[in-house]
Amino acid sequence: MLIAQISDLHIRDHLGMFGELVDTSKTLEKTIDLLNALDPQPDVVLVTGDLTDDGTKEQYSQLLEIISSLNTPWLPIPGNHDDYTEFLNAFSSKLPDNIPQNHCSYVIDDFPVRLVALDTSLPGQHDALFSEEHELWLSNALSQEKEKSTLIFTHFPPFETGINFMDLSGLKSADRLENIIRNNPQVKLVVAGHLHRPIQTSFASTMISVCPSTGNQLKLDLNPKNGSAVDEPPGFQLHIWKNGRFVTHTGVIWDGKELDMSQYVAYVNEKISKNEGIRKD
Ligand SMILES: [Fe+2]
Ligand SMILES: [Fe+2]
Repeated sequence: MLIAQISDLHIRDHLGMFGELVDTSKTLEKTIDLLNALDPQPDVVLVTGDLTDDGTKEQYSQLLEIISSLNTPWLPIPGNHDDYTEFLNAFSSKLPDNIPQNHCSYVIDDFPVRLVALDTSLPGQHDALFSEEHELWLSNALSQEKEKSTLIFTHFPPFETGINFMDLSGLKSADRLENIIRNNPQVKLVVAGHLHRPIQTSFASTMISVCPSTGNQLKLDLNPKNGSAVDEPPGFQLHIWKNGRFVTHTGVIWDGKELDMSQYVAYVNEKISKNEGIRKD
């Protein structure tokens, strides 16, 4: 199974400081072009929060128009820049009927890997909380399929990254989530967004991967007094599920040079098929 992930699309209809840094509609269009050209094609695209900048109806309409050109089925969860009501209105056709009243969490069981969407965002807040309600919902959702390999997708990463200002406004009570995952070893990967950088860490019995933004990135700066947004290339991730493990790749959108190596690839394939070694030259 091949899972693509895009995050922090931040579709906006005004310029502002961030708008002058990156045109997020254009970078999303470029990302979608790249995803549509992938061979093999992903089975599903996870869209992990901050789909719009301000959560307005107009911004969701703008997003839906752009993302309609994506060839792959996609699944959204909200982030701190989304508005819960407008989010549900915009994506009702994509979401199951049985989502809880206060958070847009759900389970998709149509794939070889079980996909669990976990929404920990709080209305009107930049930070997030893994509450007792989330704890109950997630424990129950995971207990229903203990044997099936599972991926959790969420907006807020449940760990400290070293980027201080983002850590201070991150997920509260992440230790509760860690406990649940420790008791559910069928969770093979957690993927998140929010940080606008590719970051990985171990977590309980699994791994967490954070996807870069399709718009601007945050500068890699570990000085606790600093923080800045940069126009580093937009990115996405591919999570390959094969032989009982996930392998995560980070791709970037860029207009650079490309050297075709298909002749060398054919040479390697031929040598391997003949059980011969591969020469250095
Ligand atoms: Fe974001
Ligand atoms: Fe966010």
